[in-house]
Amino acid sequence: MDKVLITRKIPSNGIEILKKSFDVYINPKDRNMTKREIIEDIKDAFAIIPMVSDIIDKDVIDSAKRLKIIANYGVGINNVDIEYATKKGIIFTNTPGVLTQSTAELGWALTMAAARFIPQSDRFTKDGKFNGFSPTLMLGKELYGSTLGIIGMGKIGSSIARMARYGFNMNILYCNRNISDKELIVDAKKTTLPELLKNSDVVIITAPLNSESRHLISYEEFDLMKNSAIFVNIARGEIVDTEALIDALKNKKIFSCGLDVYENEPNFDKRLLEFDNCVMLPHIGSATIKTRQKMAEIVANNVLSVYNNRCPKFAVNGDELCSAKK
Ligand code: DGY
Repeated sequence: MDKVLITRKIPSNGIEILKKSFDVYINPKDRNMTKREIIEDIKDAFAIIPMVSDIIDKDVIDSAKRLKIIANYGVGINNVDIEYATKKGIIFTNTPGVLTQSTAELGWALTMAAARFIPQSDRFTKDGKFNGFSPTLMLGKELYGSTLGIIGMGKIGSSIARMARYGFNMNILYCNRNISDKELIVDAKKTTLPELLKNSDVVIITAPLNSESRHLISYEEFDLMKNSAIFVNIARGEIVDTEALIDALKNKKIFSCGLDVYENEPNFDKRLLEFDNCVMLPHIGSATIKTRQKMAEIVANNVLSVYNNRCPKFAVNGDELCSAKK
């Protein structure tokens, strides 16, 4: 049987689909595989199902002599050298659509957590520090009627905009848009990045990582933000210059921040741990049972399609590689 390499355990519904046709090898360790381990295990694989934090570059692709598909377990595509995979005739797929709502809800939860110090309050209580109602304890910010700036108005941004607009009567600004008028589900005003940063009470990043968005938010951008702003990143760590974020936290250029993603995951900058007003999550945007099961089903079916010589539904390089099979 052909081998499918899965770099980290995924929900069993996806594995069951694959086991019917493949020899499924799942990384047995409860951590990401190293590049060296991937290179070793991909050598004889027909397919790889990598996580969005696994770098599938030229070295990895060159070591995979039998590889026909890279089926990313996630919607993000910045971890794979797509151009090189395409050159080698390897199909590349992702899992769009199914994680929009779960990721948007997490983005909103993180915004609320950063606005009201929820994880900090939980820790405070569990540490036995709650000694009675205090008028000055954990004073946060109300969001109702304030302004939300969305950097990267795609499906996830649009879903967050709806929660903010209808749930919290917020005004919505956005820049770096990649959806059509029809998909934009609430009234929102398009603006420039500097204007958005100057006028928003909450700034949230939902943009994809690419050469244009790398370090889009750096010193100059934090300087433009209100000192009272809440800054949230649920997209990719590399969109924010971590040195500039640390500087902003140190010099109180923002009120608080919420991070679900980091530069160089999982080896994030440990200096971030020093800030009480920074809520830090372990990249769990899409982590609901329903979404993760759907993602598992999609990756398994993408692999099966290629095995059966059909173009997978979510082929990112399908135009180049599967026109003959469509
Ligand atoms: C993605 O899919 O790109 C997310 O970051 C992982 O859930």
